[in-house]
Amino acid sequence: MPLSETVEFYATAEEAERTLEGIISGSIATEARRPAERSDVLWSRGGTFEGVVDLVWPGGLRCVLSIAPAGEDSAARPHYRATRQLCGLGDGSGIGRGELEPLARLMPFTDSEAEEIRQDIRSVPNLFPGQPLAEYSVLFTIHHLSDFLPLIETAFALGVDPRDVMVIDKEYRYLHSERVDAHLRRTQQVRVRTYSELEAALTEHFELARRRRKRVLVLDDGGYVLPVVLDRMPEALDSIAGVVEQTTSGIRKVEHRRLPLPLFSVAQSHVKATVEAYGVADAAVRNTLALLPQEKFEGRPAMVLGYGRIGEEIANILRNRRMRVAVYDSDIVRLVSAHERGFSTDRNPTALLGRSRPLLVFGCVGADSLRSEQFHCIDWDCYLVSTTSRDREFALSELAELAMEVEPLGKLGTRYTLVNGAKVLVLGHGMPINFHYAESLPNRSIDLVLASVLVGACVLARDEPPFPVGIDVEAANAALRESGLLDSYYDLWRGETLASEAITA
Ligand SMILES: NC(=O)c1ccc[n+]([C@@H]2O[C@H](COP(=O)([O-])OP(=O)(O)OC[C@H]3O[C@@H](n4cnc5c(N)ncnc54)[C@H](O)[C@@H]3O)[C@@H](O)[C@H]2O)c1
Repeated sequence: MPLSETVEFYATAEEAERTLEGIISGSIATEARRPAERSDVLWSRGGTFEGVVDLVWPGGLRCVLSIAPAGEDSAARPHYRATRQLCGLGDGSGIGRGELEPLARLMPFTDSEAEEIRQDIRSVPNLFPGQPLAEYSVLFTIHHLSDFLPLIETAFALGVDPRDVMVIDKEYRYLHSERVDAHLRRTQQVRVRTYSELEAALTEHFELARRRRKRVLVLDDGGYVLPVVLDRMPEALDSIAGVVEQTTSGIRKVEHRRLPLPLFSVAQSHVKATVEAYGVADAAVRNTLALLPQEKFEGRPAMVLGYGRIGEEIANILRNRRMRVAVYDSDIVRLVSAHERGFSTDRNPTALLGRSRPLLVFGCVGADSLRSEQFHCIDWDCYLVSTTSRDREFALSELAELAMEVEPLGKLGTRYTLVNGAKVLVLGHGMPINFHYAESLPNRSIDLVLASVLVGACVLARDEPPFPVGIDVEAANAALRESGLLDSYYDLWRGETLASEAITA
């Protein structure tokens, strides 16, 4: 536990005061944690709040909490800064530093922040009348991004009871992981378990659903649940009404298998293909540049592996940033497509890598786009960047075998120094870069995809007509079209465009 932590947040004076009380009550969750001494200095004036609270626990651990105005942000909204300073270790007779939750974990989003997040995620609520999800128990494996909050609120509006919810935290390092977690647990009162305890969490959820006599809907992003159930707990399959899958890697894990239940593929839908790839690519490149502020990219070589939906967008963005871009895809159709767009290409990825000597390598394949055969030919310094779930894009264990030194560099990533002296810096430790200490794409850009996930859930919950078993992409496309989602999205944003055109006319 660090001695000093700071979190900035957006709040009214009343919300700032409530936040301070929330931090204190969260720090004193049980009688055993009650501090021996507490002294407060609190005051409000001119519509702002300031407070300092000093807590001393038996054994000597001391904590000074403060909340004070931190000026306005770029949108002229009042910001506050919460600070927690810990002093000493205690003498071992009371609680220790490590027993306190991280500060941000005690800070759900304020009402002002939540309202702002809601404004950008607004496509689904009116599409399905009544409460079509009331009879279901729901497992969410969705990123801990701020857009998760309106998604789960909308699920409640569609009838889901918070007691029937389990969220699996993928344990990525998002910008607001801790605060999203605090909001889910403390404000929404739902169960959150981590990826490292996945199997136990699934067992717990299936048992809960059985007790509450509800069928299970799985809203997944990356194939976390179904492969585990198929392989290790097939007895639970009957209790699952269906799975909604949001991303390609989740589809890849099960597409070759005979599925005994319906899987609604948002991942392969026209809707997702239309809106998401550019946003992911843009966020991935932006975050890469933000992690390397001193690096010069213009005029230098880059390589993109996998010229699919995301890879194609990344290749375009890098070219627009004046990089010389080489592209490899194992599918000849995609390779020809890259060639026809003027990228440097080759049928052999190792030859292309050795020839172009890229400073920046983006992997957009899904798994093992670079293996020891390619790592062997690297004798220059470069950055490897992934857009794929978890750390599967590059064969990092094979890279480690070729390295004489492997150094974790904190937030930046891991540096592998090869025996020839070349330094290969794997940004974000090989995890998808658009999520690494970031919020990925703007919430408005993901609205339609998250709404599609809930449309999928509502369609799977409907008895008539039943959604086909297996992965029927056309049935998912038809259901998304019929839901009216695209119409309402188009009306919403076209309406806004027309309004701004009217202002400038
Ligand atoms: N980070 C995010 O927010 C995010 C969002 C969506 C998808 N993804 C992930 O990003 C990756 C790419 O997604 P996509 O939608 O572009 O998928 P896609 O299927 O459109 O593209 C993948 C491309 O890789 C090619 N390919 C397959 N094996 C290859 C190999 N060994 N070498 C070279 N090329 C190979 C395929 O031919 C295809 O063109 C997937 O892992 C997906 O799950 C990430």
